[in-house]
Amino acid sequence: MPSGGESAQADGSVGGPMRERLRTIPVFAGEIPSFDPASAPEDPVELFAQWLDHAVENGVPEPHVMNLATSDGANRVASRFLILKDIGPRGWSFATSAASPKGRDLQANAHAALACYWPGVGRQIRVSGVAAPESPRTSAADFLARSAEARAEALVGGQSAPMGSVDQHEGELAEARERIAADPSLVAPEWTLYTLCPDYVEFWQGAKDRNHVRLRYAVTSAGTWERTLLRP
Ligand SMILES: Cc1cc2nc3c(=O)[nH]c(=O)nc-3n(C[C@H](O)[C@H](O)[C@H](O)COP(=O)(O)O)c2cc1C
Repeated sequence: MPSGGESAQADGSVGGPMRERLRTIPVFAGEIPSFDPASAPEDPVELFAQWLDHAVENGVPEPHVMNLATSDGANRVASRFLILKDIGPRGWSFATSAASPKGRDLQANAHAALACYWPGVGRQIRVSGVAAPESPRTSAADFLARSAEARAEALVGGQSAPMGSVDQHEGELAEARERIAADPSLVAPEWTLYTLCPDYVEFWQGAKDRNHVRLRYAVTSAGTWERTLLRP
């Protein structure tokens, strides 16, 4: 692995210009809001919706982007960013190709985790649970709501597979665009809307003094939510 100019110190610590540079970058910058867990609603989806509205009102860029972590049948973990498509009583929804690496992971192991970090307001939300595909009809509706360009890309398919050449891909895209123009109701068969049904949701309010406020929602055996404060 490249060292980035770092060198091990006599005491085993790592030093160097990159480490010094990283230390100068601020975190939890801006006006950090307060969060009173005592007034949090019973349902974590409701609190997420409140925090999302707050993030949008406070100019957090792209707060609907979230990280999705999955693992394959051999317990190898992968994560990537996705767009949040919806939230509802059953959980957090996102859309992708079932044939993509993440889709194949979810087929092998439906347990998954999502995380958002909203800079400027210093908030993190963590969700974990089981992701299940929505019905083909619901997935098709999600597909058809996408732009023509996005539909053409999904129709070509093979997400994350090695690409022969840019020209070859352009040719496949042009063909997909023509198919969509000829039949606007065309749906990529692998396109799937998944909903992650949570058993754990955590709201994390960062503080400049590192006395972060953390509220965990965990599902009880009765199917209700138990709220617990966590140490920072
Ligand atoms: C901001 C952002 C939003 C993205 N949204 C999606 C999305 O909604 N669905 C999707 O399949 N990929 C999305 N991607 C691409 C994924 O991060 C990823 O590169 C791709 O889905 C392949 O992942 P996989 O190889 O783990 O299956 C997005 C990437 C970024 C940076």
